[in-house]
Amino acid sequence: QNNQSLKGKKVIVSAAGTREPIDPVRYISNRSSGKMGYAIATEAASRGAEVVLVSGITNIKAPENVKLIKVESAREMQKHIEEHFADCDITIMSAAVSDYRVKEVASQKIKKSDEVMTIELVKNPDILKGLGEKKSDKQYLVGFAAETQNVEEYAKGKLQRKNLDMIVANDVSQAGAGFNVDTNIAKIITCDGEIKQAPLMQKTELAKLILDTIEEKMNK
Ligand code: PMT
Repeated sequence: QNNQSLKGKKVIVSAAGTREPIDPVRYISNRSSGKMGYAIATEAASRGAEVVLVSGITNIKAPENVKLIKVESAREMQKHIEEHFADCDITIMSAAVSDYRVKEVASQKIKKSDEVMTIELVKNPDILKGLGEKKSDKQYLVGFAAETQNVEEYAKGKLQRKNLDMIVANDVSQAGAGFNVDTNIAKIITCDGEIKQAPLMQKTELAKLILDTIEEKMNK
């Protein structure tokens, strides 16, 4: 399906993991490679959408026809997504956002001292939940759920709590699914209660299925 079906639509995609600094040389992050989000951004752009790709750190090259905004921390990611949100039609949060950040970032490199050291963390804003609170009826909001157990139940909880139109649930404990691989296994759950089980497939193919489903639901 390469038919400019998203022409005239503005799509925000977030991708990759955020980094929360500890000191000038260290950070907390996760295993997200950005493959899933970049596949979605690439597919949306090939369908004619105006794509804003808000990306954590990755060395994947973004396609030329997307607006790439590179960020590090969750709060930076939030700022840029919110700047583009008001006039966007579809938002897809595939980034792995740090739930916590370091309370006091050290301005100098922390020196090695005691056997045990403690770093105090504070909660980051939930970007997706914030978007769910302010979205209009015309805006389509998609979250991801990275789970290792009770996948469907937890994903449905996030769909409701965050006021989403769709959630893509991946069981990241399964081989070939989730972080830093080229493939994924996902359940696409929409707010009308429909569930599509996608078998093991390339992330590029899953990106198509996600966008096909969004278009189908939005055109209803
Ligand atoms: O990048 P890859 O290596 O290709 O891996 C893809 C992936 C596994 C990262 C991707 O498929 C995925 O599952 N992304 C979501 C990861 C995640 O953080 O899930 P979560 O269940 O913790 O969060 C639920 C949703 O809330 C997500 O849409 C997340 O972007 C969003 N969130 C979470 C925390 C936070 N503070 N703000 C958020 O917006």
